[in-house]
Amino acid sequence: MRTLRFATTNPGKVREAEEYLDGVYDVEQHDYDYVEVQSSDLAEIAARGAEDAFEAGGDDVPVIVDDAGLFVRGLDGFPGPYSSYVEDTLGVERVWQLAEGLDDRRAAFRCVVAFADGDTTETFAGSVQGTLVAPRGDGGFGYDPIFEHGGETFAEMGTDRKNALSHRGRALAKLADWLAERRS
Ligand code: IMP
Repeated sequence: MRTLRFATTNPGKVREAEEYLDGVYDVEQHDYDYVEVQSSDLAEIAARGAEDAFEAGGDDVPVIVDDAGLFVRGLDGFPGPYSSYVEDTLGVERVWQLAEGLDDRRAAFRCVVAFADGDTTETFAGSVQGTLVAPRGDGGFGYDPIFEHGGETFAEMGTDRKNALSHRGRALAKLADWLAERRS
């Protein structure tokens, strides 16, 4: 089986990708913090990151990276591509405090997975809609406790259920279809 390298510092993302690419590619982790260009466009950040990580690999093994964010409607899409920075600085509790007073607390998680193999760079987007609520649940990570979908927060769902409907899962499913088609 061919190998696909996932440039990420998060082994949980690698396990999730393995589920989608099972039988098509062997997914190995490259613990590499790719260069993140400053852009309001997740696809541009992910595409440039995948190209950087492919170069850093120094061989011809194709690479994927993902970039994700939480886009709050009533805050005009904030924190969006800056979600990681905002999580580290304000923290999830204070993002909820910002959202609490809004009339429109609808939000989306968006994710773009980018593939690069030196010849081709492709991006695959996935999103999931929800509503921001006061923190609930102990599972997941990041903004999961304040993101409610179908009556439960992502932090209240098991990993399998969350992955089946998550933004990253949807982007990975598109990548898997594209890779399977490309090989046939
Ligand atoms: P990254 O691009 O995966 O590093 O994610 C960017 C930011 O969005 C980080 O603050 C993550 O914690 C957050 N984030 C990404 N995916 C999820 C998710 O599935 N649940 C909760 N937070 C997420």
